[in-house]
Amino acid sequence: MLVLGIESSCDETGVALYHSERGLLAHRLHSQIAMHTEYGGVVPELASRDHIRRVLPLTESCLEEAGTALADVDAIAYTQGPGLAGALLVGASVANALGFALQKPVIGVHHLEGHLLSPLLAEPRPAFPFVALLVSGGHTQLMAVRGIGDYELLGETVDDAAGEAFDKSAKLLDLGYPGGPALSKLAEQGDPKRFKLPRPMLHSGDLEFSFSGLKTAVLNLVQQQSPLDDATRADICAAFQEAIVEVLTKKCLAALKQTGMQRLVIAGGVGANKQLRAGLDDAAAKRRYQVFYPPLALCTDNGAMIAYAGAMRLKYAQHDYSYGAKPRWALASLPAA
Ligand code: KG4
Ligand code: ZN
Repeated sequence: MLVLGIESSCDETGVALYHSERGLLAHRLHSQIAMHTEYGGVVPELASRDHIRRVLPLTESCLEEAGTALADVDAIAYTQGPGLAGALLVGASVANALGFALQKPVIGVHHLEGHLLSPLLAEPRPAFPFVALLVSGGHTQLMAVRGIGDYELLGETVDDAAGEAFDKSAKLLDLGYPGGPALSKLAEQGDPKRFKLPRPMLHSGDLEFSFSGLKTAVLNLVQQQSPLDDATRADICAAFQEAIVEVLTKKCLAALKQTGMQRLVIAGGVGANKQLRAGLDDAAAKRRYQVFYPPLALCTDNGAMIAYAGAMRLKYAQHDYSYGAKPRWALASLPAA
């Protein structure tokens, strides 16, 4: 079973070919970061237009890499939501047009289900059940995952997402957009102990998160220390990263304890963060938990995770053929396989 996956929910056009027996055959990605940089964030209309320009050439390039033809594709999966409405409609339209032309099924995939299942594209693969931490630019959620589609929301952010906090703090430090990776890189040179930043909701006794106060604390620090020299900027980055990693790590441990599960899966863009990975590995090893991550290249948005999630849904004959975009869509509302 060969599935073509198309991701176009935000500022990355991702296309991939996943084969249920042979694995990931090809994946291609075009990032719009350079285009949006001068505006300091994603401009939705520009994003949609760029997805239109990229999606077919990327598809052709994937087919070429996999040495296969469009006629060999058995199904087409696309990100149906959540995301930017116009951007989603590009993937939805292309996927449905291809499906109509090829007379093949078209599967609307939940973007977060794509992220959630992306660690299954790496070896070793986590077995169900597991706790999943979804940390992206738009979401921070802890889920209990008992099977495909069996997702119980354990806790989530009450305000900013972790990636959003990285990006907003990076902006305050003049590190551009999306600043998560730049902030994390600079943090490596900083002293995390020079400034003490808050650990929001660390002792809230539940699995909820809050990151907007942390961003405000960074703003206050930046104003207090201005003009910033390079060392101070790096020290603020290190303090910020340490705070966010501590909160994420402790809440993951609490979720494992609460559910009695032994495996933890990390997914979403912030899952690429080196210090988060080191912190989680360390904490898990001490308690004999296992932690699983997607391949680094598949942490941020990509077509491979969409093709994979589509293949899983197809396997369990669970898909609807409805054409459309769902800019707002709760992951826990998906049907269990
Ligand atoms: O999953 P993703 O590609 O998009 C969404 O679905 O939101 O995640 C993007 C987010 C951005 O906020 C970006 O700054 C963050 O992931 N990110 C990182 C790192 N790489 C990407 N944050 C911290 N450290 C990183 N290395
Ligand atoms: Zn994403």
